[in-house]
Amino acid sequence: MAIKIAPSILSARFDRLGDQVREASDAGADMLHIDVMDGHFVPNLTMGPAIVKSIRPLTTVPFDAHLMVTHPQDFVKAFVEAGVDDLTVHVESDHDVRATIRAIRDAGVSPGVVLNPATPFEKSVPYLGDVDLLLVMTVHPGFSGQAFRADVVPKIRAARKYVDQEHLAVEIQVDGGIKVDTAPVVAEAGADILVSGSGIFPDRVRENVMALRRAAEKGRASSKRI
Ligand code: DX5
Ligand code: ZN
Repeated sequence: MAIKIAPSILSARFDRLGDQVREASDAGADMLHIDVMDGHFVPNLTMGPAIVKSIRPLTTVPFDAHLMVTHPQDFVKAFVEAGVDDLTVHVESDHDVRATIRAIRDAGVSPGVVLNPATPFEKSVPYLGDVDLLLVMTVHPGFSGQAFRADVVPKIRAARKYVDQEHLAVEIQVDGGIKVDTAPVVAEAGADILVSGSGIFPDRVRENVMALRRAAEKGRASSKRI
């Protein structure tokens, strides 16, 4: 399957968020990444279901919500009702991960699990049979615009190897510091979906999406995966 690009609206200009959503959608974004932060699991506050609901009518591009919150299970229903297509939850946050995954699936959207840079790949393994997405963070979550952590690349490779060996229907997503220079690296290591905030927004959105896709496809080609 072709590489997917997921612009993170956290780096968009919020004074014209609707226009930025349309720009990303017109640029061929495969999904829009929505960073939800609660000021507790991470030291930043961002957006909730009301924002999702208000931008949902503007595009048919799937909404991918990344929950960086302490009790993700409490917010599943609200985000699903607001119109998200998938919800990814951190294995490090305070919840019964398996129960949250089930609640997301039961609510009718795709579940995924997320690993912080310091969390080993093995922590995701118990859940990989039950999720559609594995998000490997390439920065410590909390803020856009941080530098890519190259030390996470072996974890992407390990995830790729495991997913392929076990024939799992799990897409591997990466998030944090993805730009034209790092996109080939993560694509070569086996990522399927590249999230990018400051690499895409707020200006030259179309050019940035295209450049990122091109760079990622080069990396994928060099890995000899089709
Ligand atoms: C970080 C968020 C990311 C962030 C990516 O906590 O999860 O999705 O918006 O932004 P860049 O691409 O600028 O690192
Ligand atoms: Zn994110």
